[in-house]
Amino acid sequence: MLQVGIFGITGYAGYELARWLQRHPQATVAWAVSESNAGSSLAAVVPGPLDLPLLALEDADWGAVDVVFTALPHGVAARTALLAQSHGVRVIDLSADLRLDSAASYQQWYGAAHPDPALLSAPYGLPELNRAALVDAQLIANPGCYPTSVLLGLAPLIAMQAHLDTAPIIVNAASGVSGAGRSLKQNLHFVEANENFSPYNIGHTHRHVGEMEQELGKLAARPLTVIFAPHLLPVQRGILSTMYVQVRQELALADVQRAYGERYAAEPFVRVLPPGQLPTLAHVTYTNQCAIGLTMAQPGLLIVTAAIDNLVKGAAGQAIQNMNVMYGLPETLGLQ
Ligand SMILES: NC(=O)c1ccc[n+]([C@@H]2O[C@H](COP(=O)([O-])OP(=O)(O)OC[C@H]3O[C@@H](n4cnc5c(N)ncnc54)[C@H](OP(=O)(O)O)[C@@H]3O)[C@@H](O)[C@H]2O)c1
Repeated sequence: MLQVGIFGITGYAGYELARWLQRHPQATVAWAVSESNAGSSLAAVVPGPLDLPLLALEDADWGAVDVVFTALPHGVAARTALLAQSHGVRVIDLSADLRLDSAASYQQWYGAAHPDPALLSAPYGLPELNRAALVDAQLIANPGCYPTSVLLGLAPLIAMQAHLDTAPIIVNAASGVSGAGRSLKQNLHFVEANENFSPYNIGHTHRHVGEMEQELGKLAARPLTVIFAPHLLPVQRGILSTMYVQVRQELALADVQRAYGERYAAEPFVRVLPPGQLPTLAHVTYTNQCAIGLTMAQPGLLIVTAAIDNLVKGAAGQAIQNMNVMYGLPETLGLQ
């Protein structure tokens, strides 16, 4: 039985981890650390059925765990990952602190010097695209929620070399409010968010653009530009990303559909919908699934639509999938 520690369990992603790990047959939560609620218990801080003591960092028994999940704000997560490493404990980090390949890129997108650029050698934890690098890894960078939907949605097309890299890929996406985390911000208030629909950080500014361009560029073996328009959708969870890609004029939808079907045939968590069907949040919420739909809008313009649950395939579920791969367990263990 793997012994697991969680940092940030009172947050949305950390709590979701605890919920799923409760059902994992080969992992158990040994302890959880809380920065602001140490000494209290989980049920007292987050109403719900889960309960365990919340420890102060100095009370965490590093010898009692095999791996920790850091579901913390970026910056804080890197420092915690370093501490875990110094105790010989493996880390799966849900923040952005391990995802980018260089300190310069982290500075560009996160506006701060990286706490320890050596951490940036961690493999990118999108198992469907990078499985081999995750086996036996000591550190894994769990991908961002929006990038998960975009990378899974575009990877087979990039592999076909059918896209035209003279045009940017345009991604129009919407996320449920849990995507922004639990801390209070004015635009997340019920009155502001409910029955509203708001774009934010559109263009080439959202932090996830750097991550998307980095990983898409690796798949394409050349730089690609992403124009990204995220929106806040007044639902609790779920991401729907609609991607507009200029492709070769002669590319037939049937060929794209076949390539996607073949690419993901053996993937338990990616579902390519039949022609004419489009993913919705209802296809994926509360699951570790990504659902993908394909549409040829006109010759030369493909629309790929991908849906995930931001807290599951976009965060906690993917992190558990990564833990399974890291330890050579069946990848779907605890996730179905
Ligand atoms: N929400 C999503 O859909 C999602 C998806 C993918 C990735 N992520 C990433 O996962 C990480 C956690 O996200 P989240 O949405 O769960 O965030 P959250 O709801 O705001 O929770 C973060 C938790 O971190 C803990 N924490 C420790 N030190 C902190 C500090 N200095 N400032 C603030 N919180 C601190 C807090 O719990 P204690 O005080 O109890 O320790 C807090 O509950 C973030 O890096 C986020 O970008 C989130």
